[in-house]
Amino acid sequence: MAEKMTKRAKRRDREDGLMRTVSQHHFQHAGSSQLLTISCSEVMQEEYGLYVWPCSIVLAEYVWQNRLRFAGARVVELGAGTALPGIVAAKVGAIVVLTDREDQPQVFENMQKTCDLNQVSCEMQGLTWGQWNEKSFALRHPAQIVLGADVLYASKDFDDLLATVKFLLQGMPDSVFITTYQPRSGHRSIEYLMAKWGLQCTQLLDAADFLPASKLSALSNSVELIEIRSQD
Ligand SMILES: C[S@@+](CC[C@H](N)C(=O)[O-])C[C@H]1O[C@@H](n2cnc3c(N)ncnc32)[C@H](O)[C@@H]1O
Repeated sequence: MAEKMTKRAKRRDREDGLMRTVSQHHFQHAGSSQLLTISCSEVMQEEYGLYVWPCSIVLAEYVWQNRLRFAGARVVELGAGTALPGIVAAKVGAIVVLTDREDQPQVFENMQKTCDLNQVSCEMQGLTWGQWNEKSFALRHPAQIVLGADVLYASKDFDDLLATVKFLLQGMPDSVFITTYQPRSGHRSIEYLMAKWGLQCTQLLDAADFLPASKLSALSNSVELIEIRSQD
């Protein structure tokens, strides 16, 4: 089983002229026969949002392990890319909106393919960090869970990302942002920026705290998960 859980089966598909693969991701609860398999469409192009990144595998596992918290919840995924965490949330009963940069139609086309592969219907919306319009206001809900896997990777974007997180959480009791990231040199500036935007970390976990051994051994870098709330 361990081998099965770590294997990412890939299938090449040239139907639209792109080098597309489908990776498979398995989720199982220890001591239970419940098993979920999600297929993700990936495209071999130089666009970040077209691959499943390790942070996404860690966040999706967290969603799966906390599926009772997600059942019936409203979820928005930021910088969703191939959207593995959001798709798992949808599978366990959340109402999910997948977002990514507005200027990335290819990312949304690929996301739709992944939704179709897994027979889930998620709303999709362009949401570029630091920019919002009338449609973005509809994304604000009380007790909402905002997800983001590997969205804290380029320090030039940290301010815009955290401004968007604050926009979604402010005045929304019990809303939370859950993000996974690889601790890199910009880590200290995240703490500073959280204070600047009136956000606070309420939970910090290492992937090793909850990831099954089979998935942990496939990670080449450490990954941390934090839950962030608005201070108001
Ligand atoms: C490293 S990828 C992570 C993708 C996916 N969450 C994962 O972990 O597999 C970063 C994602 O953030 C999106 N992104 C980058 N800059 C953005 C911005 N300014 N506004 C919105 N999304 C952005 C990219 O398009 C991409 O999907």
